[in-house]
This record gives sequence, structure tokens and C-alpha cells, in this order.
Amino acid sequence: MLNNGIDAARTKYDVIILDTSPALSYLTINALLASDGLIMPLPPSTLDFTSSGQFWNLFNDLTANLVTNRGKTKSFDFVDVLLARVDANDASSSVVREWITAAYAGMVLPVEIPKTALTASASAEFGTVYDTDPASINARTYRRAYDAYERVVELVEEQINTAWKRQLGEQHGA
Ligand SMILES: Nc1ncnc2c1ncn2[C@@H]1O[C@H](COP(=O)(O)OP(=O)(O)OP(=O)(O)O)[C@@H](O)[C@H]1O
Ligand SMILES: [Mg+2]
Repeated sequence: MLNNGIDAARTKYDVIILDTSPALSYLTINALLASDGLIMPLPPSTLDFTSSGQFWNLFNDLTANLVTNRGKTKSFDFVDVLLARVDANDASSSVVREWITAAYAGMVLPVEIPKTALTASASAEFGTVYDTDPASINARTYRRAYDAYERVVELVEEQINTAWKRQLGEQHGA
């Protein structure tokens, strides 16, 4: 339903971001099937890592039922795992980071979002780093967080550009 429902928005916007809850609800399933790319933010903690595995298991069952068994296909231009809320002072996070890299291999984006009070306080006010006045906080703290988010945006934009180029090539080739 969402896939059909956002057609009007598709003609107006280059990029549409669907931010879902971490559970496989009907809304999430709708968002997954309407998407061209996936970004899974994943904090390097044992619980988050095991939950992510459960998510992909359920996702597999679901696509088998909703897509494959109906003779349809669904592909994504990119599937990214983004190391998020990474605590440099937490020794266990580097262990789990290794599990994540081993399990998701080439899907892990080459950037990490650090755990920072800046993100925590910005989100407490329903905002982001981009809403925070740089003058109001320590410049190094600000840059560390800001640069990481900017790098994520760059990496995602590169993948979107690659997908667009491929689609253009297919259109011209057809
Ligand atoms: N990089 C970070 N540094 C510090 N705190 C963070 C960071 N990222 C997220 N948090 C904290 O963790 C909480 C949850 O973060 P976020 O909303 O990004 O997660 P979510 O999985 O999307 O949650 P929801 O299910 O509510 O959508 C936020 O309230 C925020 O304070
Ligand atoms: Mg969220």
C-alpha cells in the first residue's frame, strides 16, 4: 500500500526517507517493500547485534511469503549497516564491532557514529546535531559528531548516484 501510495511524492522528491521503528510491524514491512535502499543503524552492543540477526531472519520469512512465493522479486540498490552510538570507552563494543564486521562484511559503512552527549541532548529536544548552535558547545565535540553524520550522508548519496546512473544506463540501453 505504501509503495503505491508514495508515487505522488516520488515525482516531487529526489530522496524520500522512511524512518521506521526497529520492529517488523506492518508499517515497517510496507516501508521495506517501498524502499530502494536500506540503512540499518546498529549500535555495537550484544543485544542490538542479536536483534539485528533476528530481524533479518524474520525479513527472510516475510519476503519468502510476500514476494518470492508470489512469483515476484524485490531488490535493493544498497543495504547498509551503520555502526551507531559507538562508545569509545566501552571495551565490549570493539568485540561486538568485530562480530558485526564479520557477519555483515561488505554491508558495513566505513564510518561510525560516535556516542556523544551532543546527539543525546539534541534528540531530547526532538532535534539533531544540525539543529544545534555550534557556538553553544565545545568545538571538538561538535566537529566529531557533525563530521560523522556528514560522512554518512556522503556515502549514502554516492550509492544513490550510482543507482541513478545505472537506471539511466538501463533506460538508454533498452
Ligand atoms: N550517537 C549517539 N550518542 C548518544 N546518544 C545517542 C546517539 N544516538 C542515539 N542516542 C540516544 O538513544 C536514543 C534512541 O536513539 P534513536 O532515536 O536514534 O534510536 P531509534 O532506534 O531510532 O529509536 P526509536 O525506536 O525510538 O525510533 C535517543 O534518545 C538518543 O538520546
Ligand atoms: Mg527511530
